[in-house]
Amino acid sequence: MRLDAAGLRPHQTPNSKVTMLHSAVLNVMIKAAQRAGRSLKRDLGEVENLQVSMKGPRNFVTAADRRAEEIVREELAKARPDYGFLGEEGGAREGADKSHRWIVDPLDGTTNFLHGIPHFAVSIALERSGVIVAGLVYNPANDDLFIAERGKGAYLNDKRIRVAAREHMADAVVACGLPHFGRGDLALARYEIAAAQQHFAGLRRYGAAALDLAWIAAGRLDAYWERDLSSWDMAAGSILVREAGGFVSDLNGGGDIFAKGQVVAGNDAMHRALLKLLKEAGKEAAKEAAKDAGEQADKAAIKGTSAP
Ligand code: IPD
Ligand code: CA
Ligand code: CA
Repeated sequence: MRLDAAGLRPHQTPNSKVTMLHSAVLNVMIKAAQRAGRSLKRDLGEVENLQVSMKGPRNFVTAADRRAEEIVREELAKARPDYGFLGEEGGAREGADKSHRWIVDPLDGTTNFLHGIPHFAVSIALERSGVIVAGLVYNPANDDLFIAERGKGAYLNDKRIRVAAREHMADAVVACGLPHFGRGDLALARYEIAAAQQHFAGLRRYGAAALDLAWIAAGRLDAYWERDLSSWDMAAGSILVREAGGFVSDLNGGGDIFAKGQVVAGNDAMHRALLKLLKEAGKEAAKEAAKDAGEQADKAAIKGTSAP
């Protein structure tokens, strides 16, 4: 074998890491994500300039988002013209091949992007006959590239990743989503958050669901939960967590994350602990809601009897 001037074999880097060979499908996904990522990174620069303008960057971000999805769609279609496509921006497009479908969020973490916060991602998953078989989450701002294929493990920048081994809530750092701007059940969220604050070492809200899941896969976070999500928020991240040895479920512990639009993820111990905690918080919230409803009914009854 021919060695280069540094005495290295092809595929070896000076710090002696072997460059990973990806499957054909992952190569396609990586190329698409990196091209969209370059576009988003350029646009992030403009977003930073627009913060101080009167109009603000909102319209520009909407355009950046659509541009990124178009790039991803175009790249994926070039390599797999028959596959179906579900994207957050353009919706669903049927393909001639009914068993394969891409599920894409071209910009997960839009609010972060809008504010110039470098925590957002391109998320691409491949679904085969209803099962996610490959996933990629790429943050163009720091070049973190998370990939996984069914049965082949999960990787961050070509290095194998595993979920964290932490087993105690008091050591765990957990992420969540927060209902915002008239969306979701605020009262229930308050109970869930209070319970998490009481038991975990730290609670975080990062604002990009795909990265929350990817960070669990990389062992940075121990668990995560969120409601009111769409399949493109979770599809790629869910396979990353599972391939890293973690668990992903809906809030009842079942496998219906896409139909229910909710997710609980973590290593074995923290996934179980979080599910239990959320269940208890849900009961408390329901008790409180029933008490409030009872009080309202009493008030209405009193008003009714005292009416002339
Ligand atoms: C959002 C992010 C966020 C989550 C929201 C999602 P978007 O996706 O993942 O973390 O809390 O519910 O809709 O809109 O930035 O693609
Ligand atoms: Ca999203
Ligand atoms: Ca999005």
